[in-house]
Amino acid sequence: MWGGRFAVGPAEIMEEINASIDFDRKLAAQDIAGSLAHVAMLARQGVVEKADADAIAKGLTQVKGEIEAGTFAFSRALEDIHMNVESRLAAIVGPAAGRLHTARSRNDQVAVDFRLWVRDTIDALVLQIAGLQRALATRALDCADMVMPGFTHLQSAQPVTFGHHLLAYVEMLGRDAGRFRDARARLNECPLGAAALAGTSFPIDRAQTAAALGFDRPTANSLDSVADRDFALEALSAAAITATHLSRFAEEIVLWTTPQFGFVRLSDAFSTGSSIMPQKRNPDAAELVRGKTGRVTGALVGLLTVMKGLPLAYSKDMQEDKEGVFDALQTLSLCLAAMTGMVNDLTPDAKRMKAAAGAGYATATDLADWLVRTLKMPFREAHHVTGRIVALASERGVGLEKLKLEELQGVEPRITADAFAVLRVEKSVKSRTSYGGTAPANVRRQAKAWLKKLGA
Ligand code: ARG
Repeated sequence: MWGGRFAVGPAEIMEEINASIDFDRKLAAQDIAGSLAHVAMLARQGVVEKADADAIAKGLTQVKGEIEAGTFAFSRALEDIHMNVESRLAAIVGPAAGRLHTARSRNDQVAVDFRLWVRDTIDALVLQIAGLQRALATRALDCADMVMPGFTHLQSAQPVTFGHHLLAYVEMLGRDAGRFRDARARLNECPLGAAALAGTSFPIDRAQTAAALGFDRPTANSLDSVADRDFALEALSAAAITATHLSRFAEEIVLWTTPQFGFVRLSDAFSTGSSIMPQKRNPDAAELVRGKTGRVTGALVGLLTVMKGLPLAYSKDMQEDKEGVFDALQTLSLCLAAMTGMVNDLTPDAKRMKAAAGAGYATATDLADWLVRTLKMPFREAHHVTGRIVALASERGVGLEKLKLEELQGVEPRITADAFAVLRVEKSVKSRTSYGGTAPANVRRQAKAWLKKLGA
């Protein structure tokens, strides 16, 4: 492609470090779409004759067919997807193919291709996130009354419902989808026509190509157009946050499926056995979702590091933008699918969860609240009184509800038998009716609202 200036070809190791075709062939469809839009515009603007433009468009369509059919011979000597496509086009069309690259450069070309790929992938991820949210909200509606322990510091804190717990992830995923949508909105400007870095002297119409490729408008600065990859960074950042949410949920599935917790069971379809310990049922898929988060976060840190010292405009360092993004977004897609599968698969054990919910004096706050409400005690004092009652129960080795009324009255004489009612876990969750609280009625309302919003 630059034979005019060069007498000999590249050293073998130069080709090895320079070629990106092994991974950027993923951009073939986007590359050809960009070229089709570009050549159509060139023809309309009178930069290229119609007959040549038609031949080029026909040739590009043939190349696309060859790539789709798997008959295209990719060449490392041709470095990247852009030159692989153009070289094949020249073989099909002849010298007219050389007119395609008028008023553009690989710098704006790769920026367009990559934006299109990230945009399509964001759209698919947003749909997948909605699918996981639907699965969770459906489950939450079923389990709106199912009491489980709520934790802080992984210590029993207060009873919550399983439905409420699942809806917490629906909220997180809702923000994750929002971050992807925001990234998409900013990404959706077309760099094509920025050419190498300075724009072009040809009378191109960038609005035409932008519209043809589904962009909202052309990018406003040619240097910025070819030099920045913040659209990829934003997508990776949204992906890393989503993966982090999935990882926390995966960690909970790992905990919950242990015999010690026993809160949920995964079927054989989502469990693996051990080659030596016959009793084992391992939650490998959940562990892998947790583990793969490292790759997604790693890709974000990797690209931030690639970009941080680059002067404007394009530098070849930026070819390193692709593999991490491809891997991270595909990994996230796989993790979303696996989590959706697990949410649909898992069977909660209501009895185990309820028993655990009552353990660890989880309704101590309810007793303190009763003292505040009934005896008009200041909360700090109620907290202290309840603390002494908990200490007493702990000494006796029993739950709060197993203490005798006289024992409670030994600590605070004004306590009546009514207080026992609030010690039941069902009663506790039912009472948490504040907006966003765990009361089953709230959970049912929120789950239904989400399902409606998600179009389920
Ligand atoms: N393969 C290159 C990349 O991915 C395409 C752009 C090459 N531009 C250049 N001036 N060498 O970044």
